[in-house]
Amino acid sequence: MKKIILKTLKIIGILVLVLVAAGTIVYYNSVNYKMYSLHVNPEDFPEVKTKDDIPELAKNLVEQMTFEEKIDQMYGNKKLKFGAVFGVNGVINKRFPHIYVGLNERLHIPPWVLSDGPRGSRVMDQDVNAVTTFPVAMSRGASWDIDLEKRINEVIATEMRANKTNYAATPCINLLRHPGWGRAQETYGEDPWLLGEFGLASVEGIEKHNVMACPKHFALNSIENSRFVVDVSVDERALREVYLPHFKKVIQKGKPASIMSAYNSVNGEFCGNNKTLLTDILRDEWGFEGIVSTDWVYGLYDGVAGVKAGLDVEMPMQDEYSYKTLRKGVDNGEISEKDIDKIVTRTLITRLKYAFIQDSDKYLKSAILKQSSIDLAREAAEKGMVLLKNENVLPFEKSKNKKIAIIGSLADVENTGDGGSSDCAPPYVITPYQGIKKYNEALGNEVILNDGKDLESAKKLAQEADEVVIVVGYTNLDEGEYLQFSRKNMLKSAEAGKLIGKKDDGGDRLDLKLKSKDEQLITAIVGLNKNTVVTYVGSSAIDMSAWQDKAPAILFTWYAGMEGGNALANLLYGDVNPSGKLPFTIAKNQEDYPPFNAYTNKITYGYYHGYTLFEKENKPISYPFGYGLSYTTYAYSNIQIDTTQIAVNGNLKTSIDIKNIGVKGGEEIVQLYIGFKNSGVDRPVKLLRGFKRIAIAPQETKTVTIEINTEDLAWYDPSLKKWKIEAMEYELYMGASSQEKDLLKTTFTIP
Ligand code: BGC
Repeated sequence: MKKIILKTLKIIGILVLVLVAAGTIVYYNSVNYKMYSLHVNPEDFPEVKTKDDIPELAKNLVEQMTFEEKIDQMYGNKKLKFGAVFGVNGVINKRFPHIYVGLNERLHIPPWVLSDGPRGSRVMDQDVNAVTTFPVAMSRGASWDIDLEKRINEVIATEMRANKTNYAATPCINLLRHPGWGRAQETYGEDPWLLGEFGLASVEGIEKHNVMACPKHFALNSIENSRFVVDVSVDERALREVYLPHFKKVIQKGKPASIMSAYNSVNGEFCGNNKTLLTDILRDEWGFEGIVSTDWVYGLYDGVAGVKAGLDVEMPMQDEYSYKTLRKGVDNGEISEKDIDKIVTRTLITRLKYAFIQDSDKYLKSAILKQSSIDLAREAAEKGMVLLKNENVLPFEKSKNKKIAIIGSLADVENTGDGGSSDCAPPYVITPYQGIKKYNEALGNEVILNDGKDLESAKKLAQEADEVVIVVGYTNLDEGEYLQFSRKNMLKSAEAGKLIGKKDDGGDRLDLKLKSKDEQLITAIVGLNKNTVVTYVGSSAIDMSAWQDKAPAILFTWYAGMEGGNALANLLYGDVNPSGKLPFTIAKNQEDYPPFNAYTNKITYGYYHGYTLFEKENKPISYPFGYGLSYTTYAYSNIQIDTTQIAVNGNLKTSIDIKNIGVKGGEEIVQLYIGFKNSGVDRPVKLLRGFKRIAIAPQETKTVTIEINTEDLAWYDPSLKKWKIEAMEYELYMGASSQEKDLLKTTFTIP
């Protein structure tokens, strides 16, 4: 008996040792995974003299490939490898590793590597621990500053290159149909025109550094908690005029290397195998020549349908694009090997251009976190903040011997937003308290922090202080990418129409009111001190009905990035004049937004949302799209157009004068809307068709000119499947926001 026990113990001991050794090897190799060059060795391909020779090379390479080698170009990693590298790095080390795609050593084809990056390079080289972390995209949308967006994306792309990646899963240009959408922070706002301009700027900034840009998620992906399972119904007009124009602009003008299909289905077909979207519209109509990849993991359910639909790469691992499924598809004639060749050839043509590039820049590690990039992060935070209300509170005086109270649960929290794929690692985050404290220490003031948990002490402090800054809102636990990765669980909730089980981190906001403890704090202290500003940290519109009338000042700061606290202090004390404007409408009643349910497997996206809905239905709002205050006043006059009649395919030049009639210099965002009152079809009251951001010194007048093209006035006639430009009189509005009282008006005609 004793012998048997000893023998068993020995076997167990050996087994444990073997397991530990195997685990250590897997762990070690997963953390110290092999890094590959993303560039070709030109000596391997002497026949390629210029990039025009690449299509021929791609064709030749495909001819030399076995069936399996072709399929190997069509997915991320093998499941096991992906599981080990991603699992160990993601779960244990909290790092997003390099997932190499499409390496073929036999034919000397280098791989490509994705990094997410809406607010900074997510993937970092093994010895890098931090990157420049910008404010979220919604903050940048609120800056209405296209040049800024381009500069930000240049920095992100540069840091991606220094971190040895060459494919950016950004920008996210899904439309903010409802403010509750969990990933609102990753996009730029509610308006297709604004989204298109920002998406384009982002793509241009990224591609400038030979990183393949990948706008996402194509298409109609704006519910988070049901994202893997929801079917979005949309009619042809809404699709063409509301949900796709920004994708079209970004694809046609920006020519990104890639695009990412969405998880959800559209009109009954999952986006990963939606031929209407991926081939008929994207390639045949818009002329896209790049790579279509899936969103990660639940992006494709049927390999053969994926090939037929025009889907190139399944990410991040081989599942439906398996040798077996595709071989079977070819054998039974559903698809042909030629279809596979077409996919692999176009994928190689696109990505080899980047692999052959001889950079003028070396993209060394020293490119990461340059002082100029950190300054840019602060500039972005300053330009994005939106001042909604100011009853002579701001700017605070720069005097000394003051007592300043910073109150609220988020006052001293490092809070850069979403904890899902848009997360990245900043070297530090200046919290609101830290920024305001540092600023005031230099002035000789005392700054006191109170987390607002004890209402009585918060009230006492607010009464005693000279200035009160309340900091409330959300974190990655409340909104962002929904960290529920079980499709089965998601389906259960979607089918039930409500959450089944426990809610995971991030996701959609079901109620647009702030958390009740934040509302209690605000209502308890806003009336106590007239020098009080409520600063909101979050991604989108909130329902402020309980307190907005009582708050002397309201400032939207968003998730403001690593320099957010410094930017906030600069703004509160007037070193920077607020200039951001809302990239969405804030409703008076949250029921007035389009119908939204975070837990659903079916939803219809209609033609109206945002300002087009509120204007059409004359619904009351709290703050209009395009609205934001500054510390100066701008007077608009002299709206001009170069002609009152234009041809159907003509251009119109418009101009307006803006005078800064205050004493502080500032930057103003001039907006142009076209009105469709005389339309013979159902159309919005007006639509944004241009904007410009300009700096104006006190007492200076500037003339802003904006050109519009008549094709941007078109509507989509679903019966003829054609865009049409109506012959009629159009209204043209220019001014400071979308609300009529902020706009000057003229008219022009297309005869
Ligand atoms: C997100 C994508 C992201 C991808 C890779 C997915 O869960 O939806 O936006 O690019 O993960 O991180």
